[in-house]
Amino acid sequence: MANVLFVNACVRQEKSRTLKLARHFLAAYAALHPEDTVVERDVMVERLEPLYPDTLDYQERLLEEGRTDDPMFAAAHQFAAADKVVIAAPFWEQSFPAVLRVYLERVSGKNLSFYYDEAGGKHSLCHVRKLLFLTTRGGDFSAPEAQWLEMGANQLKAIAHSFDIPEFRTIAADGLDIVGNDVEQIMAKAMAECDEVAKTF
Ligand SMILES: Cc1cc2nc3c(=O)[nH]c(=O)nc-3n(C[C@H](O)[C@H](O)[C@H](O)COP(=O)(O)O)c2cc1C
Repeated sequence: MANVLFVNACVRQEKSRTLKLARHFLAAYAALHPEDTVVERDVMVERLEPLYPDTLDYQERLLEEGRTDDPMFAAAHQFAAADKVVIAAPFWEQSFPAVLRVYLERVSGKNLSFYYDEAGGKHSLCHVRKLLFLTTRGGDFSAPEAQWLEMGANQLKAIAHSFDIPEFRTIAADGLDIVGNDVEQIMAKAMAECDEVAKTF
């Protein structure tokens, strides 16, 4: 029985096409893996603050004192304990919405998601084995020559690597705001990919 964490950063909520994709994936996944538990974390609900000087000082003090049971670390503990994580976020400003970045700041931290051994080696404290990123984009960044402009999936891939998460995958619906594109067809293709990935995720 796997413990799946769904991180919802779809700011347009029920209007969001990314959320529609995520709900499709999660329904397909639940049908194939009824024994697994899926918990949703809606990053809009908490209104987490970025790490300003005082919040960073506070966080560092707590970590120095070993007070990792502080509510400030709830997101980090939840993330680290999951077997599989699904993150859904739209493509904004060549990346993803700031609320997701703030969430990731909270998830990442020394002695939370990783630790250094005495020789200075970095080790992950995350249990997560698989990370799936679901996104939709206004422009089309699927071509190899456009991928350097895409800092959402690429950033999460790097973060997954830094947490020693062995499997990272993205499902993206590209070009949804390009006039003349068949949005329904692009979404249907991404949903079919969700159905396939749900079998092995
Ligand atoms: C604030 C904002 C920023 C966006 N920035 C970009 C961008 O940099 N590049 C792009 O191709 N599309 C951009 N878009 C378009 C979205 O990627 C696209 O409409 C996406 O499908 C929205 O997902 P949603 O329906 O889940 O909200 C932006 C949209 C918004 C609202």
